[in-house]
Amino acid sequence: MTAYKSKMVEPIHLPSREVREENLERAGYNMFNLPSEDVYIDLLTDSGTGTMSAKQWAAMMLGDEAYAGSRSFDNLQDAVSDVMGMEYVVPTHQGRGAENVLYGTLLEAGDVVPNNTHFDTTRAHVANAGAEAVDCPVDGAMELQSDEPFKGNFDLDKGWAVVEEHGEDAVPVVILTITNNSTAGQPVSMENIRAVSEFAADIDATFVMDACRFAENAYFIQQREADYANHSVAEIAREELSYADALVMSGKKDALVNIGGFVACRDETLFEHARQRAILYEGFSTYGGLAGRDIEAMAQGLREAVTQEYIESRVGQVQELATLLDAADLPVYLPAGGHAVYLDAEGFFPHIPLGQFPGQALACELYREGGVRGVELGSFAFPGTNRPELVRLAIPRRTYHREHLEHIADTVAGVYERRDSVSGLEIVSEPPMKELRHFSAELRPV
Ligand code: F0G
Repeated sequence: MTAYKSKMVEPIHLPSREVREENLERAGYNMFNLPSEDVYIDLLTDSGTGTMSAKQWAAMMLGDEAYAGSRSFDNLQDAVSDVMGMEYVVPTHQGRGAENVLYGTLLEAGDVVPNNTHFDTTRAHVANAGAEAVDCPVDGAMELQSDEPFKGNFDLDKGWAVVEEHGEDAVPVVILTITNNSTAGQPVSMENIRAVSEFAADIDATFVMDACRFAENAYFIQQREADYANHSVAEIAREELSYADALVMSGKKDALVNIGGFVACRDETLFEHARQRAILYEGFSTYGGLAGRDIEAMAQGLREAVTQEYIESRVGQVQELATLLDAADLPVYLPAGGHAVYLDAEGFFPHIPLGQFPGQALACELYREGGVRGVELGSFAFPGTNRPELVRLAIPRRTYHREHLEHIADTVAGVYERRDSVSGLEIVSEPPMKELRHFSAELRPV
């Protein structure tokens, strides 16, 4: 059931096939170089690309733009307290701003940080603090099709192995990313959340949750974890976050805004330290690099994210796309995650060697075929790692409709039909930092 209707529209258009081909060539076969005007359906990310509600737009008019002591900040604090159960809040311009503030406060050179799976910016901020990021996903997390309901879980044996290798004192922070973006948006169970919080307590570490998609995770717990079938998503969200000492939030995901983020915590001393660092990097601690109106919209968005009507239609839409693709026997990661559907590029192009980037080739073909923009998360984005060759189709919140999903499915099927004739790609130019090459490298067909 859709929980909204459109009140404002933005025209989109599908440019001709010639224009799409010209655009691909001009963009160096890199999705980040495409003009968004010439993208028909944009699935590059679910971050900051959603549609705000009428109530959020109305809240923006009430933004208090005072430099200090803004009423909008009080409203955010109330929302974070009501929805997430955390007392202290430090607003930031977006999620990575929150990561810089919190991890810069908590970590020192030589520390080691276990996480179910670090998202790219998390890994970079851990490294920037001089610490080492270690992923602890469960075995089978990257199995392309299985019935496992919580493939995003943290493997505690792997967490304990980190402690045994480096010693308790070297592990001051344990992170849990819910849902697990780098593991195909898979959820983490309440049982696992509890176990990870006990693990962190056992080693005296601060337990941080990356709560970007906390509402989507809560919805999966309601749907898949027997004890929670009769709990509301709002209750589950509060419980899942109740185990954390602190959290980093990108408001661009489950706070339903186009910009914004925050750190939240329970401890006053940690709050004071984070606040000082935020003043240095983000702005005074009642605005954190945001306008008062952005903060108002984020406060309202947090409340909407945990309503059953919203979250059911949001995650439902992602599941609907996965079902359309699966019904057409297309190679898709199952079960689908909360924010995106992932395609298995090796299932499309077994004839393209990994060195010729089958995932990136698939992303290009989706644009060529139907003006759909996704993003490669495989050998091109993560060189030297052993990840499956996935292409992510992230669904913006409250933005597209059933017809769009059908167009996406038709586009994917169209590429699959002519899969034997698709060739690989080679890199023509790349930036010096290999970790960032997928944002700006240029390629050409082999
Ligand atoms: N943590 C997770 C799990 C994320 O998915 C993201 C962003 C961030 C932190 C950083 O937040 O973008 O507001 O600075 N993910 C986006 C994506 C960019 O496309 O998956 P940010």
